[in-house]
Amino acid sequence: MDDATPPKALIEARGLFKCYGDLVAVNDVQFHVQPQDFLGFLGPNGAGKTTLMKMIYCLAEPTAGSLRVFGTDVLADARSIKRRLGVVPQENNLDPDLSVWNNLMIYARYFGLRGPEIPERARELLEFMELWEKRDTVIMHLSGGMKRRLVIARALLNEPDVVILDEPTTGLDPQVRHLIWDRLLELREKGITFLLTTHYMEEAEKLCDRLYIMDRGRMITEGRPFELVRRHVGEFVLEIVADSRVEDEIVADRPDLERQRSGQRLYLYGASSESLAPLVARYADRDSRLRAASVEDVFLKLTGREIRE
Ligand SMILES: Nc1ncnc2c1ncn2[C@@H]1O[C@H](COP(=O)(O)OP(=O)(O)OP(=O)(O)O)[C@@H](O)[C@H]1O
Ligand SMILES: [Mg+2]
Repeated sequence: MDDATPPKALIEARGLFKCYGDLVAVNDVQFHVQPQDFLGFLGPNGAGKTTLMKMIYCLAEPTAGSLRVFGTDVLADARSIKRRLGVVPQENNLDPDLSVWNNLMIYARYFGLRGPEIPERARELLEFMELWEKRDTVIMHLSGGMKRRLVIARALLNEPDVVILDEPTTGLDPQVRHLIWDRLLELREKGITFLLTTHYMEEAEKLCDRLYIMDRGRMITEGRPFELVRRHVGEFVLEIVADSRVEDEIVADRPDLERQRSGQRLYLYGASSESLAPLVARYADRDSRLRAASVEDVFLKLTGREIRE
C-alpha cells in the first residue's frame, strides 16, 4: 500500500440514525474504527451505546445514514459481517439449562463452525478464561463472573477480527474485572480490534486508546483519554464543600475558573495545581480536596450531574 493511503477503516459510520417511533436513540453519529483500535463508548443510561453496538453487529437496522463493517454495508450482507465479529451483549444470553461446554458447542453449530479444531479451540478459550474446571457445570450454577467470562470465551470461538463488548464487567468483583482486563489486553496484542461500552471510567482509561462520549443519541466528544481530560477539564480539580455565599466569593475572585455544582459540593477545574493553589490555601479550613482530573470529570462535566432515566 502507498504510504500516503490511509489504512482502510474496519468500521465506518456516517450520519447514522436509529429511531424508535419518536425517540431518536442514535442521532447523526459518525466514527471510524481502524485495525487494532481499542475504542470506548461512554454515556449515561439511555445514551444510545447499546443501540449503536446492535447496529454494528446487525441486530438492529439503521433508520438512516451509512454504516459499513469490514467494508460491507450492514443492510447488504449481515451474514458475512457476523462471521468476522465476536459479540458480548449487555445481557448474558447463555442457555441456562445447558453446561458450559454445551453452550459453546451449540454456539459453534449455530455459526456453522465444524471440524476437530472447534473442541480444541473451546478448550483453549475455557483455559484462557479460567473456566476449564467448570466445563460440565450447568449455567444456572455459575457465578456472575463465570457467566461473563464464558460469554467472552464464546465471542472468541469464531476467531473474530473485531470484538464488541457491551459492558463486559458490570456487576463483577474487582478480581474478575482485573482478570478480564488482562485477558482483553493480551488479545489486543494478538491483533484483535475492540469496541467497548462501559460505565467504569477506570476501565475506559485502562483499556481504551480512544473514547467517544455519547449523550441523548449524539456523540458529544471524542479523543484519547488524556487529551479529553486536558481539553475539557484541565489537569486538576478542586472539590470543595461550599454554600452559595462561598461560591459567589470564589467567582468574584477567580472568574477564569470553570465550575460545576453537585449538591453541597463545588467542582473547580484548573489547568494546573498552581492555578488552584491560592484557593486551596484560602479555604484550607473547609472540606476540600485537590486532585488530578480524570475521564470521570470529563464525563460529568459534559453530561451533567443530574440523574438520567
Ligand atoms: N427496542 C427498543 N424499542 C424502543 N426503544 C428502545 C429500544 N431499544 C432502546 N430503546 C431506547 O433507546 C434509547 C437508547 O437505549 P440504549 O439501550 O442504546 O442506551 P445505552 O446507552 O446502552 O444505555 P445503558 O447505559 O443503560 O445500557 C433509550 O431511550 C432506550 O429506552
Ligand atoms: Mg446499554
